[in-house]
Amino acid sequence: MPLTAAQFTSPYFSLYSKAKQLHWDPADVDLSADRAQWAMIKREHAGERYDEQILRLTSLFYEGEESVTRTLAPFCSAVSRAGLGVDKELFLTTQLYEEAKHFDFFARYFAEVFEVDGAITRQYITPAPQAVLIADLEEVTERLRRAEGRDRIIPVFAESVTHYMGVVEAMLARTGYVGAHDALATRGWLPGLQEGFRLVKRDEGRHVTFGMRCIAELTAERPELREVVSATFERHLPNVLATVAEFDYPQPLVDIDKLSAYALAQYQRFAAAAGLGGEVLSEAEYAEEGDR
Ligand SMILES: [Fe+2]
Ligand SMILES: [Fe+2]
Repeated sequence: MPLTAAQFTSPYFSLYSKAKQLHWDPADVDLSADRAQWAMIKREHAGERYDEQILRLTSLFYEGEESVTRTLAPFCSAVSRAGLGVDKELFLTTQLYEEAKHFDFFARYFAEVFEVDGAITRQYITPAPQAVLIADLEEVTERLRRAEGRDRIIPVFAESVTHYMGVVEAMLARTGYVGAHDALATRGWLPGLQEGFRLVKRDEGRHVTFGMRCIAELTAERPELREVVSATFERHLPNVLATVAEFDYPQPLVDIDKLSAYALAQYQRFAAAAGLGGEVLSEAEYAEEGDR
């Protein structure tokens, strides 16, 4: 299928171009100061269980990045089968590469700084994140992989984009960055982990922008898909909020009320893009989102 002149200048193509410009390598992130600081946090803040809270947060990212790397491939194929545009396919190839790099970064961090096997992350994957981050995402993307015919693919694609880019990336991952910033940057802790979060977050801005653009386009063409978008958010909302609530320690590193409100604000932005009410992003705001 050709790349048309319109697709060359489309928002999806410009997100793809941005991804090429903002390449980074997880192996280049300097982790040299983190190991000594991690030992200090474990030694001096055992009473506050700060080490456990940091491990819980990074475990969610480790498991989440692994899950989204595994479940993105059906999107590329579905876009192709439904003829939704080569510009979207091009963008998704960059996203697939970036999700693999995000997983690579957290895997490296566990090995080199925490000095534990990645298997330790499983103990923090309680039923709520297991469902929303892993099992339910696998289920919908498996349906996407199997869907045949444009009219059957498009509703499952809308549901998959809402779950992956809306629920997992916008609501959970972005809220996680706010939590990481509050926990680490304000204390000046673990600069290598902070730098990794900054680079991952910049990529995620493009991924979420792609999702909002797709949902806006699909629901404008087929208003009945708005129901799919709102039902998908409502189904997963309890598990998102339960996942955030797990950081409510007696001496928390993060502000749970602030994080819950932030997660809900992400939901509202996506819902607005779907035409479900609320303020839709302007073109300038969309561009800024993809440019972080
Ligand atoms: Fe990611
Ligand atoms: Fe992502």
